[in-house]
Amino acid sequence: MTDITSRTEAALAAIGAATSLDALEAERLETLGKKGWVSLALKTLGGMSPEERTAAAPAIQSARAAIAEALDAKKAALEAAALEEQLARETVDLTLPAPAAPKGSVHPVSQVMDELAEIFADLGFAVATGPEIEDDWHNFTALNMDETHPARAMHDTFYFPDKTAEGKDVLLRTHTSPVQIRAMLAEGAPIRIIAPGRVYRSDSDATHTPMFHQVEGLVIDRDIHLGHLKWTLETFFKAFFEREDITLRLRPSYFPFTEPSVEVDVGYSNEGGRRVVGGHGDAPGHAWMELGGSGMVNARVLEFAGLDPTEWQGFAFGLGIDRIAMLKYGMNDLRAFFDGDGRWLAHYGFSPFDQPTLSAGVGARA
Ligand code: DAH
Repeated sequence: MTDITSRTEAALAAIGAATSLDALEAERLETLGKKGWVSLALKTLGGMSPEERTAAAPAIQSARAAIAEALDAKKAALEAAALEEQLARETVDLTLPAPAAPKGSVHPVSQVMDELAEIFADLGFAVATGPEIEDDWHNFTALNMDETHPARAMHDTFYFPDKTAEGKDVLLRTHTSPVQIRAMLAEGAPIRIIAPGRVYRSDSDATHTPMFHQVEGLVIDRDIHLGHLKWTLETFFKAFFEREDITLRLRPSYFPFTEPSVEVDVGYSNEGGRRVVGGHGDAPGHAWMELGGSGMVNARVLEFAGLDPTEWQGFAFGLGIDRIAMLKYGMNDLRAFFDGDGRWLAHYGFSPFDQPTLSAGVGARA
């Protein structure tokens, strides 16, 4: 009996003095562990007569309870202390000085979109927008691609599982052309807009990413013809690339939403492994590069958009923003545009203070 009392007191003292969870665990094994003295003492109760057991049990039971309680309390205290210590150690030093140079930069795609808007604003174009989550009607049907049109299959469309309330398919827009429809329905004619933005196709390699950028252009007025289209694109590219010797080639093509349709090529040369825009594509050392599609807006598209094609005509174009950005600023891998690598952004990014303006130059580098 006195043995149990003194051993219990010694155990409680050792638990109280434990300074680590390891020391506490050693003390638990020595008392309540399988071979601990309390456990062994409890086992002896089995071999006792009922009278002996009644006499001996309470002391052992209460020793077990007191030690278990002390172990739990000490464990909680040691864990709390460890947490406190960790919290004290892991502080954020708010007094650290700010970095010497501001780290953020404007992405070349954003910069080029600002450049586009600036140049086209000077030509009287407003900036229009539309949703990236589009419906099938705006993305295809109203652009003269009905359900069975083969061009739909060429778009590698990302569809959503659900349909709109009216039962239309929902998709990520595959081009910026649906903004033409939205703008005409909202504003009627005459109209002069550009619509830069993100588009999506299920396609990925060195020159294709599942998300990329286009700029759409639309002019609807009376007596508009292909000459206006060519002049507009030429004027734009001269301002954008900041050189006068830009030569465009309009090559007959097909798009469901334009008639006639042309593809727009620009002459370029190779200088030190870099493509440099300028000159006639058929001149020695030169070639043609495709920049986008365009044409006279198809009469059916005007009808879908609520305009009378006997009164209104117009042209439209669609250019790949990433592609003209690469051409202007000399990047060669499209995928790097969307990797978010800080070194790439530091190299190709622009200062937020370097706003493109026609007077200061739309191509000024930071
Ligand atoms: N939407 C076409 C595409 O993504 C590009 C295009 C071609 C846009 C001709 C136009 C156009 O506005 O007239 O492939």
